[in-house]
Formats: sequence, structure tokens, C-alpha cells
Amino acid sequence: EIDALCQSAGCNAYIVGGAVRDYFLRMDSCDMDIVIEGNGMIFAKSLGEKLNYIVKTYEPFLTATMQLPSGQKIDFITSRKEVYLKPAALPIIIPAGLIEDLKRRDFSINSLAIQLNGRDKGRFYDLFGGLQDLKDKKIRILHDDSFLDDPTRIFRAVRYAVRLDFKIEKHTKSLIAKALAEKAVASLSSERLSNSFLSVLSEEKTAICMEELNRLGVLAEIFLQGSFSINELRKMDDDKIIRYNVLFESPGISCDPVLLKLLLFFFPCSLSDWQSIKRVLSFDKKYSHCVLQMIEYREKFMDTLQQSHLSPAEVYQLLRPLYTEVILCLLLACDHLQIERYCMMFLLDSQHIKLHVTGKDLLNLGIKPGEIYGIILKQVLAAKLDHKIVTY
Ligand code: CTP
Repeated sequence: EIDALCQSAGCNAYIVGGAVRDYFLRMDSCDMDIVIEGNGMIFAKSLGEKLNYIVKTYEPFLTATMQLPSGQKIDFITSRKEVYLKPAALPIIIPAGLIEDLKRRDFSINSLAIQLNGRDKGRFYDLFGGLQDLKDKKIRILHDDSFLDDPTRIFRAVRYAVRLDFKIEKHTKSLIAKALAEKAVASLSSERLSNSFLSVLSEEKTAICMEELNRLGVLAEIFLQGSFSINELRKMDDDKIIRYNVLFESPGISCDPVLLKLLLFFFPCSLSDWQSIKRVLSFDKKYSHCVLQMIEYREKFMDTLQQSHLSPAEVYQLLRPLYTEVILCLLLACDHLQIERYCMMFLLDSQHIKLHVTGKDLLNLGIKPGEIYGIILKQVLAAKLDHKIVTY
């Protein structure tokens, strides 16, 4: 279909970026980027109509996204040149040929392309020695101003290096240092900085990425010393988490791993630290609310839950207001057997216990409706949790 559409629209199509890189590395790639030498949005819409797939267009970026029934996405990008008028700001996009489009990219390993149409179908483009860098396991930037133009690439360099087990090449590393010295990261908008930060939390080996970002001096540019902890993040490492598989694999417990990592990372954060962090990073409502909840409950939780005499109903009262991710964060960070026992009990058992008695039953018993209903139902639930009620 792509070939035929290219012919009728008079354009060329290429797979570029992550999918080509991962193909050579024999790794699975979720999404795919297709660069169109021509109008990427019109091309994607026509293809979507032919195949009956949903396509969304993003006019200002000259791109479109096609949603496949499998859940995968294909991005169609109008091949372009990018002009940066101001460091760290979004570039101006000017439609251009494939070569310009490959030149504007971040790293050599992401600048490989394969043509999808015409006589040159299958032709492989490697303008910057990307294939050799894949073999040498190197992350190499394409031009010296790249990190100043787009400092989010510093995070990307670290993510790729850790994910693929590559090294950031020497000159590239020195350019990161130069960009940091020029306060490039600090000049990113809070939205772009937050997205870069969250994309690190989405990586499997987040703690190792953060260690590298810390070594490079990136974290010191963003956070106050003592407001974050890489050690707490390490508790999400695979070998440590195995102990809690019963929780993470339980169908009754849903956990957003990015949120949990965010909470662990900010575990030592004080309320005033958090207020300063929110001036440079912006998170959605739930994420912010969870961090605040974690900060509020941290001390209270640690002190109270270390006691060994709490009944299931008391534990239930303490943990019920918390998001699952906050409970898991406190459980992992506290690393205390008694706390672990209480959290496990709540997450795996107590929180799923339902009351079968309702207000209607109380009415049938002749009790006048009012505040008393809430009190009675709460006490019945407490008795049930503490196994003082046997149900038949
Ligand atoms: N890209 C870039 N600079 C950026 C972001 C993206 O040059 N700041 C280019 C790279 O060529 C990259 C492509 O756009 O390969 C697609 O970006 P993205 O989807 O973020 O990365 P992938 O390479 O697909 O890698 P992955 O999704 O596996 O992280």
C-alpha cells in the first residue's frame, strides 16, 4: 500500500530512527517512525482511509499518528530541517529532503533509514556511521551544538546508553559537560524537562540512568542535594522486587510503575523541597497528589506501623486513604518486617473485603436514617476485618 500511495502522491517513504536501530540490534521496537518526503499528514490520512485505521494529525509539527489495531503506533513525519532560534526552545520546522531530515537527528544510531518505495525500495541510508557505532556500542551526537539546541538529548543519551549497554562516546560526553556548564538543562521549559525526567522513570533500569545523570551533574542542575534518593530507586531493581512479586503480580493490585519510581526517588523530599521542585517540573494532578500524600504519611506511617499490636481494622483505617503506589513506596522504602506484614495484609486481603450489609438493612431493622448509619457500617466493617463476624 505504501509503495502504491507514494507513486500516486509523488513522494518517498522511509523507516527512520528507533525501529531501524532496534532491527539491527535484534530488539523489539514498539512504535515506528516513517518519514515522508512530501506531506506526511496527507500521506498518513490517505493510508488510514485505505486501511481503515485511525489517524490523528498534528498540524504545527507536520506529523500524524496512525493507531494500529495491535496497539502499536506509526508516526508519519514530513521530512524536515530544524532551525533553532533560541537554545532549548522548540525549533522552527522547514520541509526538506531526507538527507536534511537525517542530519537534524540526535545520535548516529538514530539516523539510519530504509526506503520503503519505488526502485530504491530497501535502500539503506547510513550517513553518519551509525551502523559502525551500533557495532562499537557507542552513543555519538551528530553536531556540536546539538545538546545546546535541544538539552533533552542529554537525557536521551543516558537512556540509550543504559538501555542498550552502550558507552557515550568521549567527544559527545564533553559536549554534554559544555551544555551543562552553559545551564542548558535549566533553560528547558518545565513541560519538556518533566517529560525528559518521566521518560527516564519509564526505562527499565531507572536507578542506573539516574546514577549516570548524577555523575554527569544533570541532577544537581535540577534538584537540591538531599531532596532525592537514587538508593530508594534501587529497591525497584528486578532482583530486589522479586520478593514482592506476590504484590506486583496480583490481579487485584494495579500499580503505575512510573509513579512508584517517582515516589521512591522523592522519598527524602521535604514539603519545601517539593515546592521548589514544582517550580521547575510540572506533573499531572495524580502524581503531585501522591507525592504530597507520601510526604505527609512518611513519618506518621513509619512510627505507627512499626507497632506490633495493630488490628487489621486499625491498619485498614490507616492505609485506606492512600494510593496503592504510596503504600508500595512506603513499604519498599521503610524496609521493615512489621510494616511489610501490615501492607501485605491490607493490599492482598483487607482492601478487598466488602460489606454485604447496607443502609436498606438498617432501615428494615427500624433504625432512623442519619449519621448513625455511617458509624454502624464502619463498625461492622471493622468487626469483619478483625474476624469478629462470621458470615454464612
Ligand atoms: N529525535 C531526535 N531528537 C529528539 C527526539 C527525537 O533527533 N530530541 C529523533 C531520533 O532520530 C529518534 C526519533 O526522532 O530516533 C524518534 O524519537 P523517539 O520516538 O523519542 O525515539 P526512538 O528512537 O523511537 O526510541 P525509543 O522510542 O525506543 O526510545
